[in-house]
Amino acid sequence: MFATERVRLRPPTPDDAPSMFRLHGDPELHLLTDDQPFLPRHVGQERARLEKQVTEPPDSRTWVSFLAETVADGTFLGGCTLWGISAFERFAHLGISLVPEARGQGYGTEVVRLLCRYGFRSRNLRRLELETLAGNTAMRRTAEACGFVHEGTQRERAYDGDGFADLVLYGLLRSDWTP
Ligand SMILES: CC(C)(COP(=O)(O)OP(=O)(O)OC[C@H]1O[C@@H](n2cnc3c(N)ncnc32)[C@H](O)[C@@H]1OP(=O)(O)O)[C@@H](O)C(=O)NCCC(=O)NCCS
Repeated sequence: MFATERVRLRPPTPDDAPSMFRLHGDPELHLLTDDQPFLPRHVGQERARLEKQVTEPPDSRTWVSFLAETVADGTFLGGCTLWGISAFERFAHLGISLVPEARGQGYGTEVVRLLCRYGFRSRNLRRLELETLAGNTAMRRTAEACGFVHEGTQRERAYDGDGFADLVLYGLLRSDWTP
């Protein structure tokens, strides 16, 4: 699959439900990663979602999701997604979310680089983009470390739990990408 020396991306399975629930069941993380209201869920719903993906896979033409784990011992790091994939205009949005204990150790940068590799080489996209809260320094620096360029700011576009915050937009062209 897709791996560096330290990090591997693979599709999540139903057995990953408890790990994935750590991402999808955290209301504070939800505020950072999702623009829809947080709804309480239980781990059984996460398992049911992953089981459904086995028999009825989501439309991979527009959406693909990976679980990130360590190569050394399979420790769960988080998840990442290409969403809103447009085969016509050949771009996609990139999303990433790591569990707290995995952050700040360079894993996010490696995951984003692997996802870019998947998007550009395996899906033949020509442009990747991501949006994040202007105050999300970790995501902004990760994007910049991977070659993304700040392309604009939407003022007070996103609710951050306290009020409305600016949303910053980043883009990376395949022609500017360093594999
Ligand atoms: C954003 C996220 C994916 C970054 O991954 P990470 O593994 O923590 O980041 P890395 O260790 O690879 O660091 C990448 C850069 O960010 C900087 N950084 C990391 N954490 C930081 C923090 N808390 N504050 C400021 N800068 C930070 C690093 O110094 C590094 O910068 P550099 O390349 O200039 O040295 C991760 O922190 C995360 O999942 N956060 C919560 C979910 C989230 O915000 N997702 C994005 C929503 S759009």
